[in-house]
Amino acid sequence: MSDNDEREFIMAIEDLGFVQGFCRLCTDGWLQGWHERNGGNLTYRMTDEEVEAARPFFASEPRPWVEMGVAGENLAGAYFLSTGSGKYMRNVAEDPAHNIGIVEINERGTAYRIVWGLLDGAKPTSEFPSHFMNHSVRVAATDGADRVIYHAHTPGIIEMSFIVPLTPRDFTRRLWQMMTECVVVFPAGVGVVSWMVPGGPAIAEATSKLMATYSTAVWAHHGLFAAGPDFDTTFGLAHTVEKAAQLYVAARAANGGSEDWLNKIEDAGLVQTCKDFGIVINRDFI
Ligand code: 13P
Ligand code: ZN
Repeated sequence: MSDNDEREFIMAIEDLGFVQGFCRLCTDGWLQGWHERNGGNLTYRMTDEEVEAARPFFASEPRPWVEMGVAGENLAGAYFLSTGSGKYMRNVAEDPAHNIGIVEINERGTAYRIVWGLLDGAKPTSEFPSHFMNHSVRVAATDGADRVIYHAHTPGIIEMSFIVPLTPRDFTRRLWQMMTECVVVFPAGVGVVSWMVPGGPAIAEATSKLMATYSTAVWAHHGLFAAGPDFDTTFGLAHTVEKAAQLYVAARAANGGSEDWLNKIEDAGLVQTCKDFGIVINRDFI
């Protein structure tokens, strides 16, 4: 079947694969309990082919340009699918056009305008500056491979941020030690941003600096940011980090609050695991 034939069968933008994958992740995150009320948000950088497949559904009059307060020159002219600010993840799959939308980035990489969805005056997530800066850094770090940025209010990570020093080393080592395959899933480790006011350029700058090294960053007392090339990998990363965090909190509580474990994975085991899996571990944390 040619591309043209395939397009004839697409009756609505919601039928496109990337929109379906986006909606599925929103529902999966909701089912995990990570998205109370409007908590969390998701953005996806569309491929050129996806932009062309979606273009017939764009509004004839795009909405006005909105300055973001941050700049990402390498994202000039890009298109993103984004959750809406104040929208609930649990409602996304049921009504995409009101809860998510496509934005186009201007030629300087400083502003966006809505070209589809976010109906009735909705706006992209208030964390769009953080998502945008993270995309900019991850595009550079992965040679264009990463396309998804996901923010979730993951309870285990939030709990950990009350009882573990807020450094990448302190978080990474504890998470790696909780479950054998953690070091394989995030061999670079996790970044940590101390508590900051959400939703603006300052937290965007702080997070994106870390995302040059790490594909996931903890926001203390708030949640997690994760990046990846597709929805499965990104959700899987957030899921693995969060599961390890929950194991840490539960194991520590079961151990009377102590970190003096009877048994644990030693550093030599972490290094050997990476060697066997052909993965480069971040030696700063060993
Ligand atoms: P939005 O509803 O604007 O996406 O904000 C939710 C959130 O998690 C802020 O950090
Ligand atoms: Zn949040």
